[in-house]
Amino acid sequence: MLGSLLLLPLALVAYAIAVQTPLSPPSNEIPLLPESESDDLLYLHRKLVEIESITQNEKDVGQWLASYLRDRNFTVELQEVAPKRYNLLAYGKKRETTLLLTSHIDTVPPYWPYYYNKTSGIIGGRGSVDAKASVAAQIMAVQGLKEQMQDDISLLFVVGEETTGDGMRTFSDWKNRPNYDIVIFGEPTEAKLVCGHKGITMIKIKVTGKAAHSGYPWLGVSANDVIVEALARLLELREHLPWSEKYGNTTMNFGRVEGGVAANVVAETAFATLAVRIAAGTPKIIKELVTDALKEVKASVEEQGGELEIAWSNSGYGPVNIDCDVKGFEKLTVNYGTDVPHLKGDHKRYLYGPGSIFVAHSDHEALKKKELEQAVLDYRRLIVETSFMHHQERQDL
Ligand SMILES: *[C@@H]1O[C@H](CO)[C@@H](O)[C@H](O)[C@H]1NC(C)=O
Ligand SMILES: *[C@@H]1O[C@H](CO)[C@@H](O)[C@H](O)[C@H]1NC(C)=O
Ligand SMILES: *[C@@H]1O[C@H](CO)[C@@H](O)[C@H](O)[C@H]1NC(C)=O
Ligand SMILES: [Zn+2]
Repeated sequence: MLGSLLLLPLALVAYAIAVQTPLSPPSNEIPLLPESESDDLLYLHRKLVEIESITQNEKDVGQWLASYLRDRNFTVELQEVAPKRYNLLAYGKKRETTLLLTSHIDTVPPYWPYYYNKTSGIIGGRGSVDAKASVAAQIMAVQGLKEQMQDDISLLFVVGEETTGDGMRTFSDWKNRPNYDIVIFGEPTEAKLVCGHKGITMIKIKVTGKAAHSGYPWLGVSANDVIVEALARLLELREHLPWSEKYGNTTMNFGRVEGGVAANVVAETAFATLAVRIAAGTPKIIKELVTDALKEVKASVEEQGGELEIAWSNSGYGPVNIDCDVKGFEKLTVNYGTDVPHLKGDHKRYLYGPGSIFVAHSDHEALKKKELEQAVLDYRRLIVETSFMHHQERQDL
């Protein structure tokens, strides 16, 4: 059974070549999918992108998708994450399945409308890549499989990936959820298999000084002076953070720095927010390094009657290793965070998706129709090959 399924993608490619017609526009070259399937894919992707779903506002797109999937005979469950915010779990004949395909339905702001340029084959708009391309391709991939295979796959589309990962965390903590053997996550990876990604921790440094007339600065404590000094220490520390062969250097971004009220007033308050992308070690180690680097600055401002506080987000994690033992895919590691660490369990986990992360959060978020189609074939290949490996492992036991 599985042996014959392995031939499926090849058969599809052969079929795609067979149906090629000279009428197809030159930029589209060889069609990857049969025309009706390609049309269905583009329709689904367009509808998803057209419905704005910036994090916190995922309800409409979730509702539309639930009815789309129910119309195609999936059983759909909605899990409430917060008022008006739902994860969507869909499956065929049985709820407990070997495989789970998952991605997210929220996007970053602002909304950009959908467009499709037939001449160039480019499809754009907010979410067109991150991650509605993955969502659409995963659904089409499952629908094209034989029924028996389909019934062993679940689909999960979560909210909140772009901010705190609260959607996937809530799913993970759900007492009533099935466990899976294989989970395939969809995020823009340029159609490569991701072998791991850096960890992250967020830091906020808050300084409280004492306001004064700028003509008499010695009467105050400048929070701006303190924050500048603190950041100078961190600039130095930044060169000496843990690194690894696999992920390269840990990086530290001073994302936002703000302080004071006017040029002629000694600043009373200042703060800086930082994102650290962790290549080795844990958030705890980074925390210790930062705390240590700021020890003297902190002691000095406290001596003058001011304050320096270091606050940490509690959702940080170290580097995340991901399975990538499937032949025939290019491999890479990435520097962005995903929902992968938020789903607990001892499942094998893969990360693959169409489109590039480099355009994902930009005002020119877009991908080629062909990339979208390729992803359908690639997801099928991943499904077939990973479940084949899984069954072989079980036979070996
Ligand atoms: C859904 O199931 C019904 C009843 O079994 C069947 O008639 C229909 O063709 C199915 N629809 C799809 C899209 O598979
Ligand atoms: C569509 O793409 C073609 C080829 O790249 C380009 O010449 C044309 O201006 C684009 N059309 C629009 C409406 O952007
Ligand atoms: C890591 O940092 C070192 C020194 O700070 C630099 O020489 C090296 O090029 C960096 N490596 C990467 C992969 O960026
Ligand atoms: Zn994403």
